[in-house]
This record gives sequence, C-alpha cells and structure tokens, in this order.
Amino acid sequence: MITYKEFNQHDYRNALGKFGTGVAIVSTKTTDDFPVGVTINSFNSVSLDPPIVLWSLNKRSPSLKAFDDTGRFVIHVLSKDQIGLSKRFSSQIEEKFANVEYEFGQLGVPLISGCSAIFECTTWLRQEVGDHILFLGLVENFNSTEKEALLYYKGCYASGTELETNLI
Ligand SMILES: Cc1cc2nc3c(=O)[nH]c(=O)nc-3n(C[C@H](O)[C@H](O)[C@H](O)COP(=O)(O)O)c2cc1C
Repeated sequence: MITYKEFNQHDYRNALGKFGTGVAIVSTKTTDDFPVGVTINSFNSVSLDPPIVLWSLNKRSPSLKAFDDTGRFVIHVLSKDQIGLSKRFSSQIEEKFANVEYEFGQLGVPLISGCSAIFECTTWLRQEVGDHILFLGLVENFNSTEKEALLYYKGCYASGTELETNLI
C-alpha cells in the first residue's frame, strides 16, 4: 500500500481511472445570459427521494463563478457520438457553445441537443472539499433517450457495445 504522504500524482490518477464512468457536460449561464459548460465525470446519484445528484468542479475553474451565481445547472450525459463535445468542453476555448446546438430549458439554463440523458437541477448544497467545490443538486426534471451513452475508462473514451447481461 502507498500512504498519502508518498502519493505519486500520476500513479494516483491511474488508480482512480480504473473506475469507469460516463461523461457529462454540466452547463449553467452567467448573470448576463452567456452559456457556460464544463466536461465532467464526477457526476453521480446520491439520493432517489428526494432526487439528489452530485458533481465537483476544480476551485480554479473560470466557470465556477457562473455556477455560484445562478444556483442552477444541467447535467448532460453525453451519447457515444459526442466525443467532440466532450473535448470541446474540457478545453479552455472562450466560446465553447459556438456552433453547438442548444436552447434554454425550464430553469433558464442551456440544454445541449443529442444527449443520452439530461437532469435539470437547482443547487442543494455547495461545499468546498480540498481543491474542488462539491455541488449537490435537486433534480427538478429529467429526460432520458434511447441514445447509447459515452463511457470513460483509464483515460480513454469507450462505448458500451459489449455490455454483459445482468449477472445478478
Ligand atoms: C472525461 C473528463 C472528465 C473531467 N471531469 C472533471 C470533473 O469532474 N471536474 C472538473 O473540475 N474537471 C473535470 N475535467 C476537466 C475539465 O473539463 C477541464 O478542466 C475544463 O477546462 C474545465 O472548463 P473551465 O476551464 O471552463 O473550467 C474533466 C475532463 C475530462 C476530459
């Protein structure tokens, strides 16, 4: 076992990457209605009743202020044909939404088209945790489509075409 004080960041990240996830874009808007979005894989469900989800954002993110100001966000679970969007929203280009198809949803937050599922949320709790801000959101409404989701495993994108049948 490697103790905390001896952590090599590279090895630590590799170990974390063994935990496969989906890929999502979390969006919000600035107070002057400029759309904001970030690629994340820290999304997860916390509670079913009430429906509460979580994700976390690096404290140094220039997008943090918009999430704090609006108190609302939309989680977009990306479909397997949206790798380009994942790369775009994990880059630091200024106009991430240029040429991206979207509309403003019921909470006034941008909804990106063509995703596998979306969850419109109001911020339930915001907590500083180490170098990230943890957001918990109450799911106000959601939509799920037939589109297969994009997966992320050991730092690579994948799709779930080789799903095992339920072993339980
Ligand atoms: C698959 C993937 C998952 C990511 N997950 C997160 C995450 O959960 N939290 C985070 O803060 N950054 C995450 N990132 C990094 C951000 O997308 C990246 O730092 C981006 O530049 C943030 O946008 P910003 O510059 O507007 O803050 C992830 C990147 C990728 C490619």
